[in-house]
Amino acid sequence: MIVVPADLPPDVVDLVFASVLPSEAGSPKLREDLLDTWVGVTDAGGSVGFTAPADKAAVAATLDAALQRVTVGHDALGILRSADTAVGMGLLVDRGSAVQRHWRTLLRVMVRPELQGVGAGRLLVEGLHQMARTLGLEQLQLTVRGGTGLESFYERFGYAVVGRHPGAVRVVPGDDRDEVMMVARL
Ligand SMILES: CC(C)(COP(=O)(O)OP(=O)(O)OC[C@H]1O[C@@H](n2cnc3c(N)ncnc32)[C@H](O)[C@@H]1OP(=O)(O)O)[C@@H](O)C(=O)NCCC(=O)NCCS
Repeated sequence: MIVVPADLPPDVVDLVFASVLPSEAGSPKLREDLLDTWVGVTDAGGSVGFTAPADKAAVAATLDAALQRVTVGHDALGILRSADTAVGMGLLVDRGSAVQRHWRTLLRVMVRPELQGVGAGRLLVEGLHQMARTLGLEQLQLTVRGGTGLESFYERFGYAVVGRHPGAVRVVPGDDRDEVMMVARL
């Protein structure tokens, strides 16, 4: 567990990053917290696989599949906790390939909307990177939705753009966005 650095604003002083053990990933309370977070982030316009207004059942199905992969040890889950409530998350997703064991995909990075913009995202990504190093990973890859400006968020943590899939994301008909691939060496 990583304690929040003392220089962060008061709003996030009680936040801690934690890696979730496979045996903890089936917790109903954790599921409820992460579902609330994911739905809230989607409804606030976040780019985490869905568009607003969130279809809660569809988000729940995707979350359950992700938690199941953590439970069986395929993927790793890192969360931000405020007291006993999970308020942010990110996944280190294994590619399932014997020739790609040295890196994973960083997926579903999100912080509850009311906690965004005060350093929580930095705490989350730095914690996820520490988790990745502990797993012996050498690189992380991720994709961002074009037009969100998120490239500059990830560049702060060492990511560089390595590719672009034009028009891969259809936010709504008539609003196609590029999918931008970024990679960081750990
Ligand atoms: C992206 C996200 C995780 C960032 O978390 P956050 O708590 O808002 O970020 P922080 O406050 O820790 O910001 C850290 C730094 O990144 C910058 N930053 C934050 N969001 C940014 C963005 N969208 N674009 C560019 N820079 C950004 C901040 O200004 C800050 O800079 P500083 O260190 O110079 O002060 C959060 O905004 C979020 O959950 N967004 C919705 C979900 C989403 O789209 N996730 C991305 C999936 S690829």
